[in-house]
Amino acid sequence: MDLNAFFKVGYGMYIISSKMDEKYNGQIANAVIQISAEPPLFAVGIHKNNLTHKYIQNSEYFSVSILSEEANMKFIGKFGFKSGKNIDKFSDTEYIISEMEIPVITENTVAYFVCQLVNTVDVGTHSMFIGRAVEAKILNEKTPLTYKYYHEVLKGKSPKTAPTYKK
Ligand SMILES: Cc1cc2nc3c(=O)[nH]c(=O)nc-3n(C[C@H](O)[C@H](O)[C@H](O)COP(=O)(O)O)c2cc1C
Repeated sequence: MDLNAFFKVGYGMYIISSKMDEKYNGQIANAVIQISAEPPLFAVGIHKNNLTHKYIQNSEYFSVSILSEEANMKFIGKFGFKSGKNIDKFSDTEYIISEMEIPVITENTVAYFVCQLVNTVDVGTHSMFIGRAVEAKILNEKTPLTYKYYHEVLKGKSPKTAPTYKK
């Protein structure tokens, strides 16, 4: 089996955020897809060791910020290689609190939506959280960041907790 075939799958780049009590956290994910239109359902794949996993299970809501090509490696590194278990990622990042009172990263973001958790599928290392979009907004018309651009132009890597990680 040629694992490189998996790299031909196209993705965007997102920050998934959630909260527990009054604490906020978010992480980079490329594993985000819309799976139905009526109702608008989205699936996100989140590693069980991530703090964001715990927060989504706790609040039963998550937001998805669609990143722009302006996101640099420092910004992506904070959300994609560091854990909220060790740092407060929201302390120096632009964000809003949505109508549903869910944190949403707005920095380097072209649009966002907020989902209410409707189902969780255990897929081993990760959970697939399925959420129904209850809020959505376009912030600007900048170019959304793709996973391909992240790898080929920004020369980014993926950590072990990413579903697309390859040794
Ligand atoms: C390019 C990229 C893609 C990633 N995709 C995912 C993903 O789809 N799902 C996931 O659980 N983690 C993914 N990660 C890893 C998490 O962002 C990372 O483990 C993060 O530090 C978790 O933070 P937390 O513990 O604060 O929740 C990705 C990281 C990068 C850099």
